[in-house]
Amino acid sequence: MTVSTIILAAGKGTRMKSPTPKILHKIGGKYLISFGVDLAKAIKSKETIVVVGDENEQATKEALSGKKVKFCIQRSQLGTGDAVKIALKGFNIKSKYTLILYGDTPFIKNNTIKKMIIKAETGFEFIFLGFQAKKKNSYGKFKIGPKGTLMDIIEKNEPGYNFANNLSNSGILLARSSIIADLIQKIKNNNSKGEYYLTDIVKLAAKYGHSSTYVQCKEDECIGVNSQSELSIAEKKFQDDFREKLMASGVSMQSPETCFFSFDTTIKSGCVIEPYVIFDVGVKIQSSTVIKSYSYIQGAHIGQFCQIGPFARLRPSTRLSNEVKVGNFVEVKNSILSPKTKANHLSYIGDAKLGKNTNVGAGTIFCNYDGKNKHFTDVGDNVFIGSNASLIAPLKIGDGSIVAAGSAINRDVPSESLAISRPLQQNKIGIGGKIMLKLQKVADKFKR
Ligand code: UD1
Ligand code: MG
Repeated sequence: MTVSTIILAAGKGTRMKSPTPKILHKIGGKYLISFGVDLAKAIKSKETIVVVGDENEQATKEALSGKKVKFCIQRSQLGTGDAVKIALKGFNIKSKYTLILYGDTPFIKNNTIKKMIIKAETGFEFIFLGFQAKKKNSYGKFKIGPKGTLMDIIEKNEPGYNFANNLSNSGILLARSSIIADLIQKIKNNNSKGEYYLTDIVKLAAKYGHSSTYVQCKEDECIGVNSQSELSIAEKKFQDDFREKLMASGVSMQSPETCFFSFDTTIKSGCVIEPYVIFDVGVKIQSSTVIKSYSYIQGAHIGQFCQIGPFARLRPSTRLSNEVKVGNFVEVKNSILSPKTKANHLSYIGDAKLGKNTNVGAGTIFCNYDGKNKHFTDVGDNVFIGSNASLIAPLKIGDGSIVAAGSAINRDVPSESLAISRPLQQNKIGIGGKIMLKLQKVADKFKR
């Protein structure tokens, strides 16, 4: 039993009112279109064909680069039936079944498709996915016949359309490839919209002696995105589900609704996520680490028993080993911090490697950029960097060294050395008192 997948994504998405194509909006940091592509992969689809409009072609290809998909262009959006017809014409599908997904319906589950395949194997040629809607909507409605067969799907504004008690059509369809390839040619556009409705395939199937049925799933699995408001509803569902999954796996959150995750965030059990933390894409955290409030983390891998934040910013290619501390107003980018190393306050660490048990004092800046190029700083084990030091890369600081507070360091520091680079202090005895007196006199004059 084999399946090929066609993802319909040529619609203009005009209701999004955005210069970004609808299917390239993101949920949990992942393109809408990628949800369908990943679902096809999860069900081991033999091939995945994405139908795009010509104005979205380039951007969609770029967004899906690296994924195993084929593209097919629908130049005028003449309806879902037309989109499927073009895909079937462009590719000679040999799989037993053809699965039609929508590029804007991100939450269809792998298991639901499996149920549709099981239903198909009992002898039906067309299986649509439907749901019972809580509120009135404008989806196509199932007309169900005896023994759970599907007689017709009626679109809004077409004769016989009736919301009451009828299942709504999610749009997802599993069809026998050989039969849909033939019947799709026969769909006409003599309806109120002048479009080729894919859903007309049900009536045609009955006419030519084929049978259709449906599988029912939960309404929230069929959430579609057509507007910015619906995008935010879909994002909310994604975040709620993600939080539940994390908590069920042993991650603690005092206020889960204030924390936001990406589709690929991985956090091991025993971690504590304090309120108001954002995880952008590419984050992996090992067990028992605490992320304190108001931290923003992106592309960082964090070890066990670390303490991050409050107000920390971790940027891509940050690699923190176990028991590392990154405190408030510390930004780390493209840097490795080895076990037990600390940067607790007000620092920037960029393009660097720090050894074990090293301490970065408050206000230390790794000066990695000369205006044209980025340079690397290599700090050894057991190094103490005093507060407010500027480490001007390229630079190497050997094991066990000390950098004096307030120093600007631009030459390599050998191991176990003290590097100090600041003007010598002078104490002018009695001068402070005299200045104070003078200032007081000026202040008194202005008061009068
Ligand atoms: C469709 C279904 C409707 C179902 C609803 C669920 C038809 C005729 N109707 O209606 O029964 O309840 O989805 O959301 O199929 N697309 C193309 N090319 C086109 C037109 C659409 O690729 O020419 C793509 C869109 O990008 C989108 C999907 O097909 O991903 C659905 O199109 P849309 O116009 O939203 O269909 P609906 O009118 O909502
Ligand atoms: Mg729609």
